[in-house]
Amino acid sequence: MSNQAQANPLTGKVAFIQGGSRGIGAAIAKRLAHDGAAVALTYASSAGHAQAVVKEIEDAGGRAIAIQADSADPAQIKTAVQQAADTYGKIDILVNNAGVLALGNVAEGEIPLDVIDRTLAVNVRSVIIASQAVVKHMDKGGRIITIGSTNSDRMPFQGGSIYAMSKSAIVGLTKGLARDLGPLGITVNNIQPGPIDTEMNPDDGEFAHALKGLMALPRYGKVEEVASFAAYLAGPEAAYITGASLLVDGGFSA
Ligand SMILES: NC(=O)c1ccc[n+]([C@@H]2O[C@H](COP(=O)([O-])OP(=O)(O)OC[C@H]3O[C@@H](n4cnc5c(N)ncnc54)[C@H](OP(=O)(O)O)[C@@H]3O)[C@@H](O)[C@H]2O)c1
Repeated sequence: MSNQAQANPLTGKVAFIQGGSRGIGAAIAKRLAHDGAAVALTYASSAGHAQAVVKEIEDAGGRAIAIQADSADPAQIKTAVQQAADTYGKIDILVNNAGVLALGNVAEGEIPLDVIDRTLAVNVRSVIIASQAVVKHMDKGGRIITIGSTNSDRMPFQGGSIYAMSKSAIVGLTKGLARDLGPLGITVNNIQPGPIDTEMNPDDGEFAHALKGLMALPRYGKVEEVASFAAYLAGPEAAYITGASLLVDGGFSA
């Protein structure tokens, strides 16, 4: 492998990231761009954050566009995928990062239907819709990576049933998609982070102290520590990994 290929293993590749404006998704967008990929990232409402990610990538010499697309809306996902493919000519890497965390304890009252439905629409249905939409733009060697959660394995506090359900669904969905897309040479994997310092789960938030007490490494992860693994799965060295749910959780579930 040449020095260029080692330094920028994703040169010539195109990545589409659902939910790339903040947190883990923004870090993945920046890392994949650093590794050489052109990036299309979507956002729901944070236009300013999305444009800041694009600017940071461009200032570093990379290529990126931001597209507003609510991952709860299949039509908006499909339009965004088409826009990315029209812009860059193809899609090699799909990262399904968009996610919402809604807490609700069934012992304390009914969880509203719209909360259940939106969690499933953003955290699960969007993965199927985007995967179907990218396949026709994806060649052999394509990569589909979803950001699930260690909470599919372990939900050690109250109020997390809906979120855990959605992230457990990703485990099965990843296996099924891997079977469907294996013959096309496309891999499908699920990264399951533990507590990562973002606006969704800040290191100084109300749950932080309790969560650290449950971990083998008693600290929050950094977004870059998830992005580096996403970059590995997106790259040529991960060609034989598919259908897998892989923990990046500081030993949360150990
Ligand atoms: N942080 C953790 O501890 C942790 C642990 C395990 C798994 N995860 C998972 O990792 C993923 C990212 O989490 P995070 O902590 O980085 O969250 P975050 O800081 O809240 O960022 C969420 C990102 O997803 C986007 N997004 C949310 N809903 C969307 C929608 N309907 N349509 C399009 N984009 C949408 C947001 O866009 P806007 O900026 O426009 O809102 C933002 O870019 C999620 O799937 C989450 O479940 C997080």
